[in-house]
Amino acid sequence: MEHKNEEHATKLLRAQTHVWNHIFSFINSMSLKCAIDLEIPETIHKHGKPMALSQLIDSLPIHPSKTNYIYRLMRILTHSGFFSQKKLNENELEMGYVLTDSSILLLKDNPLSMTPFLQAMLDPMLTNPWHELPAWFKNDDPSAFHTAHGLKIWDYAGREPKLNNLFNDAMASDAQLIASAVIEKCKGVFRGLDSLVDVGGGTGTMAKAIANSFPQLECTVFDLPHVVAGLQESQNLKYVGGDMFQSVPPADAILLKWIMHDWNDEQCVKILKNCKEAIKNKGKGKGQKIIIIDMVLEREKEDNISVETELFVDMVVMVLYPGKERNEKEWAKLIFSAGFSDYKITPVLGLRSLIEVYP
Ligand SMILES: C[S@@+](CC[C@H](N)C(=O)[O-])C[C@H]1O[C@@H](n2cnc3c(N)ncnc32)[C@H](O)[C@@H]1O
Repeated sequence: MEHKNEEHATKLLRAQTHVWNHIFSFINSMSLKCAIDLEIPETIHKHGKPMALSQLIDSLPIHPSKTNYIYRLMRILTHSGFFSQKKLNENELEMGYVLTDSSILLLKDNPLSMTPFLQAMLDPMLTNPWHELPAWFKNDDPSAFHTAHGLKIWDYAGREPKLNNLFNDAMASDAQLIASAVIEKCKGVFRGLDSLVDVGGGTGTMAKAIANSFPQLECTVFDLPHVVAGLQESQNLKYVGGDMFQSVPPADAILLKWIMHDWNDEQCVKILKNCKEAIKNKGKGKGQKIIIIDMVLEREKEDNISVETELFVDMVVMVLYPGKERNEKEWAKLIFSAGFSDYKITPVLGLRSLIEVYP
């Protein structure tokens, strides 16, 4: 009996830890944001070698009454893999902080920096909608973002330059990283094409990288008018404002990076049909296709952290747009419903895949 009671208490306490862990999960995000706002990765990077806690404290723009607290922030961020510790030098026992691969990706001067993405996703404009999620389940608003702000995210961004800039910079930072991976790993996808339209291409980071790597390719960035207004064109890159639900400019190939997951199935079929129309009038043999960059859920051999991250992103697109992440079966249904004949998935972009869709 005593043994049974003990087992029961152990189970209860384990469950309590699990609940605590989830109540406090936001502390991972907020501690990371605080370190970025205080420029801790920059400070350690500039130091150029392992940085002792006292040196770090001396270099940060903090009030003297707060110096004792930096250790606590560094401890949780070291635990979560954003910093690690190394001996200050061979003959000393004292340890200093160094960056990890993850915090290197958060350095503001890193051309692939993810900091703009962090700043947008953790801005109150995009976190407040999470407080409205239960209300959204009970009302008929299109998204929790709409419940929080009274408008769809794209309309709000059209009226509120702060959101427009935050969001476009976030997308540009993601595009920079994915563009470098696509060009390194999937160059063949663009061979033989004369023209490409990046639909919903934001401020053009992805298209610029493709245009630079393939100077013979005419690239067009197509996005909402307030997103592309006044952007600098170049010889093989131009910008067109419009609405992809009305029509898409003609080209050999259409790129849809991180577009489909913003929309429901019916809207995705409409976008795909407009893209099919856009490649229809191009001469045969040009390798006409739609190139989608998005997640394909439930792939084999996924580790726990990848699965959890995919589920996080699925919730993000539900709360903001509302869209959804899809498994292969769901992708195939969309593709065939829009009248395409075949597709090929290349899962080489981390959590995302490149999906080529053929007319
Ligand atoms: C999630 S962002 C992706 C941006 C870019 N493709 C990338 O991955 O970096 C979605 C983009 O779709 C654009 N968009 C939303 N509604 C649109 C519409 N009706 N027509 C054209 N673009 C639209 C947004 O302005 C935004 O730039």
